[in-house]
Amino acid sequence: MSTFTPSDIAALGKVGVLFGGRSAEREISLISGNGVLGALKSKGVDAHAFDPAERSLADLAAEKFDRVFIALHGRYGEDGSLQGALEQLGIPYTGSGVMASAVGMDKITTKIVWLAHGVPTPRYAVIGDQADLDRVVADLGLPLIVKPPLEGSTIGITKVTDASQLKAAVELARRYDKVVLAEQFIAGREFSVPVLGAGADARALPIIEIVAPEGNYDYQNKYFKDDTKYYCPAPLDEDITAAIKAHVENAYRALGCEGWGRVDVLLRASDNAPFLLEVNTSPGMTSHSLVPMAARAEGTSYEDLCVRILASASLKLGQPKKA
Ligand SMILES: Nc1ncnc2c1ncn2[C@@H]1O[C@H](COP(=O)(O)OP(=O)(O)O)[C@@H](O)[C@H]1O
Ligand SMILES: [Mg+2]
Repeated sequence: MSTFTPSDIAALGKVGVLFGGRSAEREISLISGNGVLGALKSKGVDAHAFDPAERSLADLAAEKFDRVFIALHGRYGEDGSLQGALEQLGIPYTGSGVMASAVGMDKITTKIVWLAHGVPTPRYAVIGDQADLDRVVADLGLPLIVKPPLEGSTIGITKVTDASQLKAAVELARRYDKVVLAEQFIAGREFSVPVLGAGADARALPIIEIVAPEGNYDYQNKYFKDDTKYYCPAPLDEDITAAIKAHVENAYRALGCEGWGRVDVLLRASDNAPFLLEVNTSPGMTSHSLVPMAARAEGTSYEDLCVRILASASLKLGQPKKA
């Protein structure tokens, strides 16, 4: 990866690091944002903290930031709404634009786009108010997974092993979103694959395998227990590694993602078939997070990764005309 000279750093100008925010993932965002802020400052970037939960977005223009690094997760930071505001203000920002952010936030729309592009993703059903739950079980088989399509961090997800559990699982997911997503359960290994870049230049970083002792669909397990293990580069045959990376890059481009992102993947144990679950368009960016882990496996430090992502900040809709 290329290194940045002092004049490259100076050219980045005054930088706002947006973190905190109002979503359920505020706590993780605070850690991500403080990490990014410290890393950018250590590289000589003129970086400043900005918490949208504490300040009005109008202040972004008043601060005269030349660009912003978005280290917010979830609603209001990752879902396209902030990206739209930044487009209107004419402030270049890291990561995906309005549409890719909004689509990436919705697991159902993501799957529809992916299926149109030949990206493998688990078979699914959309459960609205009037859904025939017996039909869902007949279509998808058991076990199946029920999740709220707009949440992150494994919130509201249930593995249903018996048809009698489906109603309660749907009710739990409905606490978060009106419409609920049910998916065929894929038994196998779990991976996450960071991607940097945009369009034809989008490239997957080394694949990370995630091994949680009691299964992966548990928030506590995955994020707060020490016994989840990560292996990067994932111990996989070369041909499977290449196939997963190709699907991930195709999936990222299909959604029009830019800058950076991370795609969650399952590899079915019975036949090594990959299934893509979702894309995170503003992934965790603490020094222990997965994207920095994969970058390190390629010899890129956390600090250099932060600068590289920042340098890719852009306006995706073009410069607005001055009134
Ligand atoms: N179809 C599925 N089959 C097996 N496990 C699943 C499936 N969908 C989700 N999971 C498990 O639940 C976790 C969270 O699901 P995911 O779709 O990535 O949502 P999020 O990370 O936004 O909460 C996954 O990392 C995986 O461990
Ligand atoms: Mg996920």
